[in-house]
Amino acid sequence: MGFDNVQNIQILGAGGHAKVVIQMARAAGYVPVAVFDDNTETHGKMLCGVPIVGHLSEALKSMPTVIAIGNNQVRKRCCESMSLPWVTIIHPTAVVDPTATIGEGTVVFANVVIQADSIIGRHAIINTSASIDHDSCLSDYVHVAPGCRVTGEVHVGEGVLLGVGMSIKPRMKIGEWSIIGVGSVVVADIPSHVTAMGVPARVKLGGALSKPVPKLGDMIRES
Ligand SMILES: CC(C)(COP(=O)(O)OP(=O)(O)OC[C@H]1O[C@@H](n2cnc3c(N)ncnc32)[C@H](O)[C@@H]1OP(=O)(O)O)[C@@H](O)C(=O)NCCC(=O)NCCS
Repeated sequence: MGFDNVQNIQILGAGGHAKVVIQMARAAGYVPVAVFDDNTETHGKMLCGVPIVGHLSEALKSMPTVIAIGNNQVRKRCCESMSLPWVTIIHPTAVVDPTATIGEGTVVFANVVIQADSIIGRHAIINTSASIDHDSCLSDYVHVAPGCRVTGEVHVGEGVLLGVGMSIKPRMKIGEWSIIGVGSVVVADIPSHVTAMGVPARVKLGGALSKPVPKLGDMIRES
């Protein structure tokens, strides 16, 4: 397809999350030029003005790429099945302390604040208006939903979903692949592979990995 501009990027996934990634990437100065998705029904259509051109396996090997799939498990599987030049995108209104570390493939949305010495892993989503305070560590494939408040010295394990508007008390630990419900307040450590919710947050249900994992194409259609 002959894209020469280094600012050009390709997008993996054609769901709702891809729409917001396309728009925030534009705001950050990138030019999304192609979308790839395994749902053939999307092929030939446009997503926010970007053509959906083919399957994930047809993504261009040398073009900067972002996985715009909201489901953390699917995003991880997609990443592990491909070797592409992942791009990290930070919205111009986000405030990221110079001492913070942001992993490759991570997207940081509008009005996010990430404070000193925080570490964000690879292919994470730090969604609109979330705040991550000092010395917190968020592992790979986490999704911090809009409006979350992660205070200081918090540790969040791989693949965790922090639901919209939740808050975490300082120095708490959340185990890998757990889900914290919308609006919850975490005041004690949360184990791995569970769903916790409420104020204060209590473990209620089996978590993400307690459910059967569908095939990659099926999961992308759900995302
Ligand atoms: C916690 C969550 C995963 C539970 O989802 P679910 O398994 O489908 O659960 P249900 O909606 O069937 O609700 C089950 C029970 O939990 C309660 N519940 C659900 N979410 C809750 C929450 N955030 N806080 C308190 N209670 C909650 C429901 O009221 C219901 O109670 P009941 O059995 O007494 O009627 C989901 O509600 C949630 O918060 N997801 C996060 C979504 C999000 O932020 N996504 C990011 C978008 S960018």
